[in-house]
Amino acid sequence: MNEDPLQAYGELATGVREILLPADLIRQRVQALADDISRDYAGLNPLLVGVLKGVLIFMADLLRAISIPAEVDFMAVSSYSAQSRDQGLVRLEKDLETPLAGRHVLFVEDVIDTGLTLNYLLRTLRARQPASLEVCVLFDKPQRRLVEIPLRYTGFDLPPRFVVGYGLDYRERYRSLPFVGLLDPEVFQ
Ligand code: PRP
Repeated sequence: MNEDPLQAYGELATGVREILLPADLIRQRVQALADDISRDYAGLNPLLVGVLKGVLIFMADLLRAISIPAEVDFMAVSSYSAQSRDQGLVRLEKDLETPLAGRHVLFVEDVIDTGLTLNYLLRTLRARQPASLEVCVLFDKPQRRLVEIPLRYTGFDLPPRFVVGYGLDYRERYRSLPFVGLLDPEVFQ
């Protein structure tokens, strides 16, 4: 009767202590965000821009839930090191293929933590003179923010804990879990 819901995921969920956001709740929230975006961007053919890899699950679900024509493109970045990342230094590993001038760009992120990555990327994209540039983030960790960034659409606030699932990884594991769970500290200590 009181079966642990994590057990249903077997080996995939080994090391996950508890479910913070169940799959159903995420699905409903993604649909609500998509409804807002479909209304706000009607007739504008928005370009959704994501940073690999964490955003892949959210982007796929969001794009399919949006009811107006929208395009998608991706970039990839790497931090120079943990220390330089703390200073907001990131290296562009893969750039967008789509020119941004005159486009309505919606930057889609899975998680914002310090805000440094996004701050750097928004500056880079703004220089390409899009008609508009807004941010949609699914998981916000506001307590860890070092740079303030205006967020047009936000899914959930999360505590400053190590969470995995729905695209979020620990050493490339757990991305495929359909929920967001708290990682057992024993796994990463
Ligand atoms: C995550 C996320 C953002 C960044 C946010 O990527 O996708 O790009 O961290 O952190 P910040 O606000 O502190 O800058 P991550 O480095 O985990 O890579 P991944 O997307 O490949 O998992």
